[in-house]
Parts: sequence; C-alpha cells; structure tokens
Amino acid sequence: RIPKTIFSGIQPTGIPHLGNYLGALKNWKKLQDSEARDTRLIYSIVGYHAITLPQQPGILRQERREMMAALLAIGLDPHRSIIFHQDQVAQHTELAWILNSFTPVNKLQRMTTWKSKIATLKNSNDVSEIDDSTLNLGLLSYPVLQAADIMLYKATHVPVGEDQQQHLELTRDLAEHFNRIFKCRKFFPLPTHLITPASRILNLRDPLSKMSKSHPLPTSRIMITDSDREIASKIKSAVTDSDSGINFDALNRPGVSNLLTILADCEESTPEKVSIGLENSSQLKEAVAEALVQSLSPIRGAFHRLSNEHHYLDELAKKGQKQAAYIASDTMNHVKKHVGL
Ligand code: ADP
Ligand code: NA
Repeated sequence: RIPKTIFSGIQPTGIPHLGNYLGALKNWKKLQDSEARDTRLIYSIVGYHAITLPQQPGILRQERREMMAALLAIGLDPHRSIIFHQDQVAQHTELAWILNSFTPVNKLQRMTTWKSKIATLKNSNDVSEIDDSTLNLGLLSYPVLQAADIMLYKATHVPVGEDQQQHLELTRDLAEHFNRIFKCRKFFPLPTHLITPASRILNLRDPLSKMSKSHPLPTSRIMITDSDREIASKIKSAVTDSDSGINFDALNRPGVSNLLTILADCEESTPEKVSIGLENSSQLKEAVAEALVQSLSPIRGAFHRLSNEHHYLDELAKKGQKQAAYIASDTMNHVKKHVGL
C-alpha cells in the first residue's frame, strides 16, 4: 500500500517574498498542521532546477542555505516533514535520466512554460540573449526532473499553482507510461493536484503583474524578513486608485484588491469580510501593514536566529537527505529492475 504522500518543491531563491509565502509556503505549513500523522510530507529545495538558469556559485550556496532557514522559520518542523536539498539525493537525476528516455522532445517543446520562455526572449529584442546556453537542454527537460522529484517518493498529492498543472499532467503521463510498458501496474501512483486556497499576490507598484523577486523595484515586494518600518513604508507606497471607498473588485481595482487579499490571508478571512469598515486607502494600508507586521515578525525573528547557524542548518539538511534517500533509493532500485538495468 502506498501511503498518502504530499510532495512539493521550491527553488533555492534565498529569502522568500510575500508572494512565495502566501502563495505556496504558508500552505505547506498548513498541511503540516492539518494532515493526519500517517500522511508523508516531503518538501524539497530544488537546486538542480535552479541551475537551468545561470547562477553564481557563491550566491547559489547562500540562497540554498537561506531557503532552508526560511522553511524552518515559517514553521516547517523537521520532526514532522522531510525537508531536504534535492541536489543532495542523487536518485533525482538518475530517475530524471530514465524518464528523459521516454519523453518525446516535442511534448516538452509544447509546454507553456517553455514556450513563454522563448516568447519572453523574442520580446526582449536583444537577439544576443537567445544564445545556445539560454535555451539549454536542462531547461527543456525541467518538467521531467520535476516528474522525477514527485515519482521518487511515489507522491500521491502535489500542491502546486495553476501554472504548474501542465507539469503535473506530464508527471501523470510518465507514471502511467512507465507502469504500462514495464508491466508494473500501480508501481507509480498517478499523483493528483492538491487544490489549495493559495492566493496570487500582486506587485505592489504595478498591480497588473504578480509580485516577483526579479522586478527591479525593491518596493514592489515585501520580503518575509522585512522590518516593521520597511513593511509600513512599502505598503504606504503601494499603488491603489482614486475611487472612493474600499471594496474587493480584482478586475477594476487590482491594487486595492491585492491589499485586501493580503489582509484576508493574514487574518484567515476573506477579502470581502476584511473590507468591512474600511473607508479609504490610508485606513486600508494601515490595517495591512499592521497585519503583516503581526504575521511576519515572528518569522523574521526565527529567520535571523537560524540563518547564521550554518552548522545547525547543515545538520538538518543531512537529516533530511538521509530520510529522503531512504525512500528514493528503494524506489530507484525497483525502477532499475523494471527497466532491466
Ligand atoms: P518568483 O516569481 O519570485 O521567481 P518562483 O517562481 O520561484 O517566484 O515561485 C516560487 C513559488 O512561489 C511557486 O510556488 C509560485 O507559485 C509561488 N509564487 C511566486 N510568486 C507568487 C505570487 N506573486 N503570488 C503567489 N504565489 C507566488
Ligand atoms: Na518565477
């Protein structure tokens, strides 16, 4: 019997921003709090995915460590969840290679993530950017590595955003294909998308795009380690509109609605409910800043305590590595037997 197993991953992008937190990581913690004890929770920091884009080794090393500290700071508990670095468990690349050998190239070329990457490069007008290393084989095969991540732990449930649904479908196809051609029915479960109530958080300075780590304006995003003062000033400078009153209307009032979404997430409520009693943008911003300070200050404190404890973080990574490798090596042994290797 395959136990209920939830797998999710995040790239080692250093300190998460509010979009990463409310859109993904907070939900990991919620699952940890709400799932039955016998549900396996496996959370991975996916360094092999990160290197499909150019990285500076020193920065990558630091950002891997910061992501580990951030996962602990938001409340992931290494006694309950397996928290590990994907690049420390060799079976990820082994299984990815085998899956690569069953994945049609044109199927990967049809992935919307790949196509939008090409479209972005074409729009950038800088033809020199479209060089051989930008559209590399690793980037094309990114969804296959993701499938390997999920399948190694025989994950049954995967909480991912809408933009990742196509990748999860590929995972299901590969699992189904493997089970069929190697006549090992039910060896790999077909993982289902765990629909999560996660919100899409928008750019504070340009609420028509999502909050992102790559936007040039640092005031466009809140980092989970921002000081109370930084939170207040970033929220103060957030773009709203000049309509009177405060109401949730994502289409016509994206800036106001984004702030209501953030407030609702902090207060475990709905944007409509938290808007009641708020009369203007400055009241809204005050309420949002206050709620964010409440939510983020314990995380910030924990992060600062942890982030310099390199030895402790390395020990935890080692523990996670062992737990993950225990499951991954068992799966991989069977995979190789099925394949004839
Ligand atoms: P970024 O866009 O800043 O590079 P990533 O693409 O690395 O962030 O995303 C990491 C995780 O955070 C993913 O699960 C993604 O869906 C989620 N995420 C990123 N930005 C946002 C956002 N603005 N709102 C909600 N979730 C987000
Ligand atoms: Na991104």
